[in-house]
Amino acid sequence: MNSLGTAKITLNNGTSMPVFGLGVFLAKDGDETRYAVTEALKAGYRHIDTAAVYNNERSVGKAVRESRIPREDLFITTKLWNKDIRNHRVKEALHRSLDNLKMDYVDLYLVHWPIENRVSSVWPEMEELYKEGRVKAVGVSNYHIHHLNELLPAADIVPAVNQVECHPYLQQRELRSFCAEKGIVFESWGPLMQGHFLKVREILDIAEKYKRTPAQITLRWGLQNNIVLIPKSVKKDRIISNADIFSFELSEDDMETLNCLDRNQRMGPDPDNFNF
Ligand SMILES: NC(=O)c1ccc[n+]([C@@H]2O[C@H](COP(=O)([O-])OP(=O)(O)OC[C@H]3O[C@@H](n4cnc5c(N)ncnc54)[C@H](OP(=O)(O)O)[C@@H]3O)[C@@H](O)[C@H]2O)c1
Repeated sequence: MNSLGTAKITLNNGTSMPVFGLGVFLAKDGDETRYAVTEALKAGYRHIDTAAVYNNERSVGKAVRESRIPREDLFITTKLWNKDIRNHRVKEALHRSLDNLKMDYVDLYLVHWPIENRVSSVWPEMEELYKEGRVKAVGVSNYHIHHLNELLPAADIVPAVNQVECHPYLQQRELRSFCAEKGIVFESWGPLMQGHFLKVREILDIAEKYKRTPAQITLRWGLQNNIVLIPKSVKKDRIISNADIFSFELSEDDMETLNCLDRNQRMGPDPDNFNF
């Protein structure tokens, strides 16, 4: 059986990405982020997901350096923020992120949101960065099928990843199949429903049955659906227990119960209707 850090998926450019990582959205720059990343790395995480707009890249970079884990053993994602997309400052934005992280490259650079009139026109600028070698893979985030259909015809490089909100209440089946067909790895943000999982009766019942935490059940559902997961926590015990999902399996019946929870309900903004 695979375990945390060694369970990987191969991206469409041949590089590989750990299927489980730590998200740091809303983790404060400074001690909070540094502590969370440090504890995650100690626990065996090798994949960290940040973004320019989270304003904590510096602390992520610091924790990574302090860990002394060889850079090539880690997978670091950051994202191009909307303002830089609108202002055509793609290369500058990457260099700013690399300066903050104090890294020579990131493993994955994502277009954070599909910005009107820039959904496809941003892509050649991303491809340029990839060709220059300071990003090992390029992808998108919050792209619906119609956004991908706009981007793909003009693309030389197919996005390696699409990172979107996905959890038992928003299962994104159509988008998952579309991405699979196009060779785009599907990655979920908000895999713990931004904390809402604790209110879902079926998840609590299944957790009780398996003697697992509700978070582990929610994440294991994602893993068994081949979804890349980046749950966020800044608490050591949760960081450790959230990752302990590689040594048990949900039965077909229990997967079915969770698969039936889909209600197209978002915890975050809809990529077709946001104002930032
Ligand atoms: N691309 C995008 O637009 C986008 C948008 C949102 C997020 N993301 C990425 O995806 C990552 C994950 O999404 P998310 O942070 O929005 O939400 P999430 O991972 O679904 O949920 C995080 C929330 O759950 C809590 N939590 C974590 N483990 C728990 C446990 N075992 N028991 C109870 N509560 C627990 C956390 O609190 P504590 O920290 O207090 O434990 C936090 O409040 C982000 O951190 C970010 O890296 C990307």
